[in-house]
Amino acid sequence: MKNTVLTFKQAKGSGTKLTMLTAYDYSTAKLIDTAGVNSILVGDSLGNVMLGYEDTVSVTMEDMIHHGAAVARGAKNALVVIDMPFMSYQTSVYDAVVNAGRLMKEGRANAVKLEGGVEVTEQIKAITAAGIPVVAHIGLTPQSINAFGGHKVQGKTEEAAQKIVNDARAVEKAGAFAVVLEGIPAKLASFITKELTIPTIGIGASVDCDGQVLVYQDMLGMYSDFTPKFVKKFANIGEVMTAAFRQYIDEVNSGAFPSEENCYAISDEIIEKLK
Ligand code: KIV
Repeated sequence: MKNTVLTFKQAKGSGTKLTMLTAYDYSTAKLIDTAGVNSILVGDSLGNVMLGYEDTVSVTMEDMIHHGAAVARGAKNALVVIDMPFMSYQTSVYDAVVNAGRLMKEGRANAVKLEGGVEVTEQIKAITAAGIPVVAHIGLTPQSINAFGGHKVQGKTEEAAQKIVNDARAVEKAGAFAVVLEGIPAKLASFITKELTIPTIGIGASVDCDGQVLVYQDMLGMYSDFTPKFVKKFANIGEVMTAAFRQYIDEVNSGAFPSEENCYAISDEIIEKLK
């Protein structure tokens, strides 16, 4: 059954956890969707894991639409959320609505996600007023790593923790239907989760959140440039892939591949008649 914003609403406080994973292409989206995840996030983390940038700052609207539309074609039941890339919504409320609309129309998203708290509430209000569901994202927001001075856990002092609580309340009030809490202390995530009526989706924010999200290459051991403490490797597919690639190279070199079963037949008679 298709997951919708109502799935998220009903999960809050029901004891049912929400599951979200990233995907950036059709085949992976199909596999994740078949597994039964509630939501697929086309994260701007595609800048890191798909395009090889060192951060998400260079990701464009065209990147998000291109990958988002591929995921949407593969996701039958999961709610597809597409990230609004850096500078597609910070510049003005007008830009935010136009770009959120493009992610829905061209990317075929079911919802959009944007980073920030109090400072983006006007954007969240305007996007939701246009009929577009919004997931907010607060705490360690990767688009702001230059302002943070790196990938640092946020909300560790009283002032910083209070700012994140204020952000959480502000995005809920502005109309977000869920909020991602990234890279914040466990007890702060727990406090926010109890305070809000919308579900919290944690990444590096503890088991007390209403749901969890991970980047699929991280949880499958396919991305080795940087592995945050909050990542659990559920499989080591990266090693399996490298071993298969090595075997392919060996078999091509030795002539073991392709074998007869990988080839197409033709009768000798035809070959003999060829001039
Ligand atoms: O871009 C992304 O993948 C994200 C998740 C890490 C929440 O925003």
